[in-house]
Amino acid sequence: MDQDLIKLVNKLQDTFANLGGELDMPQLVVVGSQSAGKSSVLETIVGRDFLPRGQGIVTRRPLVLQLIHTPIPTEPSPNAPPYTEWGQFLHIDKRFTDFNEIRKEIEQETFRVAGQNKGVSKLPISLRIYSPNVLDLTLVDLPGLTKIPVGDQPSDIERQIRNLVLEYISKPNSVILAVSGANVDLANSEALKLARTVDPQGRRTIGILTKLDLMDAGTNAFDVLTGRVYQLKLGFIGVVGRSQQDILSEKSMTDALDSESEFFRTHPAYRNIAHKNGTNHIREKLPDMKARLNTLIGQAQQELNSYGDAAVYGDKNQQGSLILRLMTQFARDFVSSIEGTKVDIS
Ligand code: GDP
Ligand code: NA
Ligand code: MG
Repeated sequence: MDQDLIKLVNKLQDTFANLGGELDMPQLVVVGSQSAGKSSVLETIVGRDFLPRGQGIVTRRPLVLQLIHTPIPTEPSPNAPPYTEWGQFLHIDKRFTDFNEIRKEIEQETFRVAGQNKGVSKLPISLRIYSPNVLDLTLVDLPGLTKIPVGDQPSDIERQIRNLVLEYISKPNSVILAVSGANVDLANSEALKLARTVDPQGRRTIGILTKLDLMDAGTNAFDVLTGRVYQLKLGFIGVVGRSQQDILSEKSMTDALDSESEFFRTHPAYRNIAHKNGTNHIREKLPDMKARLNTLIGQAQQELNSYGDAAVYGDKNQQGSLILRLMTQFARDFVSSIEGTKVDIS
């Protein structure tokens, strides 16, 4: 996204914030059962290690993650800071250049608001990541769907998490990354079940099948990955993420991506569909989405311009309804453009 568009979006966002509203920008939202691998998938999309991951309930507050593409200056200046990637939280005025510190801050902020004992809070943590290696995109990590209360969780925790997830995925401007573990029968997928309630036609849902390495010997997910079991217009992408052992031994992301592509290239069932799977394939699809977004934002900008200064400096009510209308149109266009990105897996 070029600087002008970023400025426009920021301007829209600020204007909207001043009006007391919230701007619904397109975002990717993960949904799935607890420990299906949601945080792992998001982290590899970003390409950095910075999210708390692990067995049991780890993600206990929504994390709204805004990726902001920041090019490396072509002419390095002597005053340039010695880093090109950093994180910035909304709740603390500090630049984080060490991504391990980002993870610790997420953990601390989670404990601060959601308590010490497995509690869940719907209050989001907002984090912006500035990097030359990302596309402008908002990603949302969410607590996983569970069945029974543990620790300090209230008896209706299942319903609470479900409602929290629904709040994010029911917005028409969200693309749902429905994450299911390949070691669980797809018919039991909570992710697809919930995604279906808000996107019955499967138009803005991408199926992510994790843990292909953990399937029973003699079974494979070829039929799921090729859309023969459950149909989604945007298709399924299989991934192999880092195991708990890999996390403990601090396996690097590069090594993990290497072993993942090795897995697909050498597996007899996946060899022929290797190029359509793996975390890199998710990343490869992002520029396409970004290009579509740019066009749509450009159109919104043109429309905004055609309203002249009234749009930006006009009276507040008029301004609010105009922006609301523009953004509704934007979200609608976005969804219909996404429908056109059908992945041809056959
Ligand atoms: P979340 O609760 O859905 O966010 O899941 P996490 O990303 O925290 O992962 C839960 C656990 O599953 C962690 O121990 C991960 O190491 C492990 N995990 C995630 N993806 C995979 C995978 O593809 N293969 C294997 N073996 N383990 C995985
Ligand atoms: Na987990
Ligand atoms: Mg998680």
